[in-house]
Amino acid sequence: MTLGAPRSQRHLVLIGLMGAGKTTVGRECARRLERTFVDTDDLITATARMTVDEIFATAGEAEFRRLEHDVVADVCASPEPLVVACGGGAVLDPENRRALRAAGVVVWLRAPARTLARRVGDGATRPLLRDDPAGALARLERLREPAYEAAAHVSVDTDGVGIDVVAESVLAAFVEETV
Ligand code: S3P
Repeated sequence: MTLGAPRSQRHLVLIGLMGAGKTTVGRECARRLERTFVDTDDLITATARMTVDEIFATAGEAEFRRLEHDVVADVCASPEPLVVACGGGAVLDPENRRALRAAGVVVWLRAPARTLARRVGDGATRPLLRDDPAGALARLERLREPAYEAAAHVSVDTDGVGIDVVAESVLAAFVEETV
């Protein structure tokens, strides 16, 4: 069993479905904590030199998940405490869940699928939402709930709540988990 990172050095990790606000809220939390912000999708696209869309289209989802797994491992190993926004599917992999929980405080940003659908619009840059964003999000919500539940130390409801208030709730939960 691994004891994970010392408490004060733990990453703040945001998970949840597409449209949950992981990137926006993550940036705000990083600003307030004076930490570096990283987004696993950005690290994947920088490594692959392709957009998420292109990776799915040319190499397939399995290859995207392999790259995502490597990026999650790298981020978890970072000695600098970070704020990390994970792609919505990152915690489907049990190894990713274990690594993220050991290295960080994992906060699940939640909102009902209909709210997420409103936020992502036509889902144009997200291959899994291409044809029917609302339907896909409702399906993914049902399928993924157990994985988010298993990955998260704590969850924060974002429905109808502004970014500042969500960031405050996330940071309060983070402090609570690290004392
Ligand atoms: C995915 C979410 C996306 C991106 C990819 C797959 C998912 O990230 O990783 O399109 O499986 O939920 P965001 O959650 O940041 O949109």
